[in-house]
Amino acid sequence: MTADGADWARRSLGAVWHPCTQMKLHEHAPPLAIARAAGPWLYDFAGNRYLDAVSSWWVNLFGHANPRIDAALAAQVRELSHIMLAGFTHRPAVVLAERLAALAPPGLGHAFFASDGASATEIALKMSFHCWSNRGQRGKARYARLAGGYHGETIGALGVTDVALFREAYAPLLRDQPVLPSPAARDGANPQAALDAALAALQALLDERAGEIAALIIEPLVQGAGGMAMYAPRYLARARELTAQHDVHLIADEIMTGFGRTGTMFACEQAAISPDFLCLSKGITGGYLPLSCVLTTDSVFEAFYADDAAQGFLHSHSYTGNALACAAALAVLDIFDEDRVIAANRERASRWRALAGPLVDHPRVRGFRQCGMIAAFEVDDAGPAFARRFASAAQERGVVLRPIGDTVYFMPPYIVTDDEFALLVERTLLTLDAV
Ligand SMILES: Cc1ncc(COP(=O)(O)O)c(C=O)c1O
Repeated sequence: MTADGADWARRSLGAVWHPCTQMKLHEHAPPLAIARAAGPWLYDFAGNRYLDAVSSWWVNLFGHANPRIDAALAAQVRELSHIMLAGFTHRPAVVLAERLAALAPPGLGHAFFASDGASATEIALKMSFHCWSNRGQRGKARYARLAGGYHGETIGALGVTDVALFREAYAPLLRDQPVLPSPAARDGANPQAALDAALAALQALLDERAGEIAALIIEPLVQGAGGMAMYAPRYLARARELTAQHDVHLIADEIMTGFGRTGTMFACEQAAISPDFLCLSKGITGGYLPLSCVLTTDSVFEAFYADDAAQGFLHSHSYTGNALACAAALAVLDIFDEDRVIAANRERASRWRALAGPLVDHPRVRGFRQCGMIAAFEVDDAGPAFARRFASAAQERGVVLRPIGDTVYFMPPYIVTDDEFALLVERTLLTLDAV
């Protein structure tokens, strides 16, 4: 590290409490100070570059310093940066709400904006409960969640998350919510059997307890933070039928899977379903600014529409519908249109699958899988602190990878070229040999 980089790292450790981090571990491995970023590359102060193969926590779609998003932001700064969205409105929020509704599965015409993924989860959970309550069904005060599910880290979102590492310290604060088996087969289990068992358990829970359950919350097709566990669209189709039959809302958390990650704009499309709530964030601004959005139906909206103020959804975040973030999101949607990104990604995904061949054949690699623009595999003989050791060995080789336990995954920005993807595979193989 150069003097500049080392100095920023030292000052950071003095002043910045880093997220999702045991700070003491930085005593021997300081954070990497990044001087600038362009395309899929991060540059440190010595000019070394690192391929951002996890899209900066799954948010970046079209690269850093993207000229089209930069230009949209520069134009928006000159017009309006931020005003509150209560009692006021503005063009970027309106146009974004309209365009998202047009792109999303049918029937989701009401957009509620917030600033991050966990807030979107909170909004969907609160809206679902409050909707039933406004309709006189106050007993519907629980949420069904999936084993291995992840929906964010605020107290409410953690309550429906099932990743022990994040939950355990706060368990006494969390309300007990029923956990259903995941439809994703793990550790070589039979995918068909896992999916059937998950559906049978869902049906049994709803048959017994639908009167107390407001919603089922799921990550469609890929359970991300729970280990990139993938499952077939059939679960979504049947879960939609069962929840509708039992008067239980379906919350599709597409915070990670949305905006093309699973091969379609939204994962729900692959089962041709419309949830009652669609939670979006991360890629929505191409990784530029914090923004999230919950889309919902006329039926939910109408349950709040009344003369009584308390029957309204009196939830807010100061930066709700931030004009700069909305302008970045509109630029992202323009890129999807202009570059026909979804069609291009279909071909890109199959080229990436072919390029990953040497990894699939590696003797320590198990369970290689891919869903659209996400690929993941487990590593045999991972050993203690594998994720940390692997991430640091990868960084030494110029790639940013952050395994989840013994699961290594690739989720790069869509603009990564085939040569860059081949380099990612090559450096991952070298990393595998080193850890
Ligand atoms: C599926 C899913 N839901 C919710 C969240 C929480 O989003 P945020 O970190 O912006 O609060 C994440 C973040 O990884 C996620 O993957």
